[in-house]
Amino acid sequence: MKEIKIGILGFGTVGAGVVEGIQKNGALMAERTGIVPVVAKIADLDIETDRGISVGEGVLTTDAMSVITDDGIDLIVELVGGTSIARTFTLEALKRGKPVITANKALLADHGEEIYKTARENNTGIYYEASVGGGIPILRSQRAGLIGNRIESIYGILNGTCNYILTRMEREGLPFDEILADAQALGYAETPPDLDIDGIDTAHKAVVLASMAYGAPVPMEACPTKGIRGLAASEIRNTEELGYRIKLLAIIKENHGEVELSVEPALVPKTHMIASVSDSFNAVFVKGDIVDDTMYYGRGAGRLPTGSAVIGDIMEAASDKLNGKGVPVSVTMMLQKSELDYCAPGSIEKRCYIRLCLEDKPGSMAKVMNIFGAHNISIASVVQKELHESGCAPVVILTQKAKESEFVAAIAEIDALDVSTCTPIRMRLEDFE
Ligand code: HSE
Repeated sequence: MKEIKIGILGFGTVGAGVVEGIQKNGALMAERTGIVPVVAKIADLDIETDRGISVGEGVLTTDAMSVITDDGIDLIVELVGGTSIARTFTLEALKRGKPVITANKALLADHGEEIYKTARENNTGIYYEASVGGGIPILRSQRAGLIGNRIESIYGILNGTCNYILTRMEREGLPFDEILADAQALGYAETPPDLDIDGIDTAHKAVVLASMAYGAPVPMEACPTKGIRGLAASEIRNTEELGYRIKLLAIIKENHGEVELSVEPALVPKTHMIASVSDSFNAVFVKGDIVDDTMYYGRGAGRLPTGSAVIGDIMEAASDKLNGKGVPVSVTMMLQKSELDYCAPGSIEKRCYIRLCLEDKPGSMAKVMNIFGAHNISIASVVQKELHESGCAPVVILTQKAKESEFVAAIAEIDALDVSTCTPIRMRLEDFE
């Protein structure tokens, strides 16, 4: 048996989950791998608050740098969060040849290239399974089980908070804010939760997934991002009646060598497996050119699920270090190419859900349909609801595939019509064809 001494930076929700997991199953991990994980140091500015777990005397410190520079510490677990001090700590540890394990998707999304290159230059590794999909080993699946595949597409439900909100809005019809407060109390949400509900957390994860799938760090600017803030309960009811469910999706595809990437609320058929992913669960649906369709499911947030992913990385990093492996696949896969080509957003073809409010006047619908026709947008179905007391009729339209630039132009023209009485709502419809 060989001991591996772990230094943890950040003793928050995930840090406490990692320590709890190692205390619970450390002996089992040692039996399985021959490596004994020892939490030697934990650094946090707050070492007074009770986290519900006891650690040995002298383990806690407020000085993170002393942990990084301690020659007795074999690897560093960065759970500080944010992109400033976490970047400094990560680079400093890598420059000292120490492997770093992180759950910090924002750090990788903003500074991934610098971090992967620093790891490579110093013949060590950065391991980041916990940064995407909480407890789901999706990155390990991509870089191990699916290594022989070209990735054709990835669809991900990657934010537990948003999926939890959407599920309860649909199931219980509760207001958005009340459900968000529950998600925060359960420890799912980021601080501030705007990162969740505006889709930014999902985008951070999407760029990590896309970087690994296509072999170069993907900048956040390449990922148009829209969250679920302001989504009306009526939209959820409309889509349900049509056989769809709304999910906040990360959509990643490659078409003719160009990468398409976005984060947006999208309609998915209720019959598709991804539609049945509810509450704080995450799922990633990956299509490879050899394997075909695969799906990965699990808890996307929370202390122990995320802790589980960190622990998996700790054991892999420990094994790599003890075996003198050098630069791991988690680094080389991110640096295969210097940059990627991206689809121009306007040229992306998609189906859409469109909800309008029209005045009850002869010819209103005809004006709208003329505009769609002029923009090469074919209609798959139209439902006009009963008139509101206001005298306006909500109209729900599902389209066939058309170009994004045509949708943008058509919606602008419809919005400007005298018979259009509210700003049109448009969402992507993904039928996985
Ligand atoms: N706030 C994130 C979520 C936590 O809700 O999924 C994990 O990144």
